[in-house]
Amino acid sequence: MNTLAYPLFRTTEMAALAAWPQIGCGDKNNIDDLAVRAMRDALNQIEMRGRVVIGEGEIDCAPMLYIGEPVGKGSGPQIDIAVDPIEGTRMVAMGQNNALAVMACAPGGTLLHAPDMYMKKIVVGKKAKGVINLALSLADNLRAVAGALDKPLDRLRMVTLDKPRHQDAIAQATRLGVKVFALPDGDVAASVMTCLLENQYDVMYSIGGAPEGVISACAVKALGGEMQVELMDFCQAKGETPANRQIADSERRRCKEMGVEINRIYSLDEVVKSDAVLFSATGVTGGDILQGVREEGTVVRTQTLLINGIERTCNIIDSLHHH
Ligand code: FBP
Repeated sequence: MNTLAYPLFRTTEMAALAAWPQIGCGDKNNIDDLAVRAMRDALNQIEMRGRVVIGEGEIDCAPMLYIGEPVGKGSGPQIDIAVDPIEGTRMVAMGQNNALAVMACAPGGTLLHAPDMYMKKIVVGKKAKGVINLALSLADNLRAVAGALDKPLDRLRMVTLDKPRHQDAIAQATRLGVKVFALPDGDVAASVMTCLLENQYDVMYSIGGAPEGVISACAVKALGGEMQVELMDFCQAKGETPANRQIADSERRRCKEMGVEINRIYSLDEVVKSDAVLFSATGVTGGDILQGVREEGTVVRTQTLLINGIERTCNIIDSLHHH
């Protein structure tokens, strides 16, 4: 597993480099497409029997890296892979901060295998480990985290995404006096920041993508934090309409086939069953953790965060790429 750290970190570098020339182009599908192709090429050069257990969609959505897609050279260890070639496609399309190319992996059979659907997530760093419970209200969780951190509620910082479905959560938090940071997109970056930069955020709460949830869970586990998640169908996240109902019904069928349950709370150890995880994120646009891709003369510079749960290390790696 450990020998995969370098080749896997190259996969997010390649995806970020492929997307970078298109920052600000306004077309998020084009950006995603470039990053997917670059990440797939890089993954297929690795000596492993990899399988995408959670990713951007189903086989009929190819050329995305689809759920169940085999990757790697077809020999070597069996590896579960969770991918999001670009986390924040809209942010890259609009030239906004904090977009990443990300992936995470763990030994075969240890990562949650689920459809690309919505997932409710709560994340805390190691100092508040053991006090979160998604079965309780957000307000109860915020009180418990404040207690664990020995902070008054008005000094607690919650990060979330600025989405209409979070209005109620944001109102609950602000009523308690909690300070809310609502980012346009990107709950992987928000989850990592909650565990990595102790003074930045105390809690991450969002209803976002399930692939992003599993990728974040790998980082949270290796960083010693805690997370709980709950899969939600499309209507629960976006509201009841006939079109949304069709999507929700097909998600429910797919969950049954995959053996996962909607509206069941999964602990971090159920989402990621091994400590031998690797997480790699390369900055596409500059952000709070990583710098984005930059051109410096004839050299292009990238910055990548590599979290290694086997060695319990966390490296920020600067690379210089010659044209
Ligand atoms: P993508 O760019 O991969 O779509 O992810 C961006 C993101 O903000 C995730 O961080 C989050 O989990 C999800 O989108 C939220 O979904 P939606 O865009 O439907 O609100």
